[in-house]
Amino acid sequence: MTVQTIKVEKATTLKQKPDAILDFGTMFTDHMFIMDYSGDKGWHDPRIVPYGDIKLDPAAMIFHYGQSVFEGLKAYVTPNGDVHLFRPEKNFARMNHSNERLCIPAIDEELALEALKQLVALEKEWIPTEEGTSLYIRPFIISTEPYLGVAPSQNYLFMIILSPVGAYYKEGINPVKIAVESKYVRAVKGGTGEAKTGGNYAASLMAQELVSDKGFAQVLWLDGVEKKYIEEVGSMNVFFKINGEVITPELTGSILPGVTRDSALTLLKHWDIPVTERRITIEELYEASQNGTLEEAFGTGTAAVISPIGQLTWEGKDLIINDGKTGEVAKRLYDTLTGIQYGKMEDPFDWITKID
Ligand code: COI
Repeated sequence: MTVQTIKVEKATTLKQKPDAILDFGTMFTDHMFIMDYSGDKGWHDPRIVPYGDIKLDPAAMIFHYGQSVFEGLKAYVTPNGDVHLFRPEKNFARMNHSNERLCIPAIDEELALEALKQLVALEKEWIPTEEGTSLYIRPFIISTEPYLGVAPSQNYLFMIILSPVGAYYKEGINPVKIAVESKYVRAVKGGTGEAKTGGNYAASLMAQELVSDKGFAQVLWLDGVEKKYIEEVGSMNVFFKINGEVITPELTGSILPGVTRDSALTLLKHWDIPVTERRITIEELYEASQNGTLEEAFGTGTAAVISPIGQLTWEGKDLIINDGKTGEVAKRLYDTLTGIQYGKMEDPFDWITKID
């Protein structure tokens, strides 16, 4: 593809930066990236502009049929002031897989990465430096054609916005409580479960709402057909350690292929910790908990990093895992991943992209 020049229009007034970052996804930086798609021009006019509202026709297809995809990654400042991105090429590759599933035209992954680097470099001062904080990056595409027929849109917007964030869960890095969902399902094979599209998250809200006032951070989804096999948690993939072996559900088509999931698998193999991707039923997990072999459970995700699970509740039964404490494997993965991301540890897998 031809290399397109990214135009830059700088904001004339800058926002006040926060004194401390306590929460996730509520604050946005001074600039954003935007690029248009039309049938005749393809993806065109890539530009960095002041952060602000966008104007859409009320008939824009995104409002009606939900044709959208998104990604999530982070930028980190290292102790010597370098700026790191973690495996950003994986996010843009996955975005194109999601695009394909949602009939959205593919983006130029190199251009997207270049745009992201320029945007983050411009917003470097916004990357928080307190422990556990980072600059969350949200690339997304929406369909914009004003048309009420059900068909792929002829027009799209690709945008990248940035948000300084703290921990995703109020528990921080402490173990969370998760409810196993037995009634509602998130995705089925052949559906859009492995695409990162807004509809999957819309479909997940009700189950989460129903348990959130009982102290559960999120729900654990079972497969959409038999409600038997474990799939994933609301915003993370999930891992269990049973009798010394780490197990994560294999990617069957309805599970999101997480970048942190892939990184955790790579690290576990590198450490010679037995690890298997396979189908695992909720009954097997319950039995392991009953016979004392369920040693750890944790989630993996960009927003959540490595999030230990201290309790799972399934049909009224509480599975308390590792006495509700963070397990050894989860801790080692958390320390190593964040060590690499924040430039405090070696990067043996070449996962870091430095921003100049
Ligand atoms: C991420 O981990 O970046 C995600 O996309 C999860 C999100 C829905 C908060």
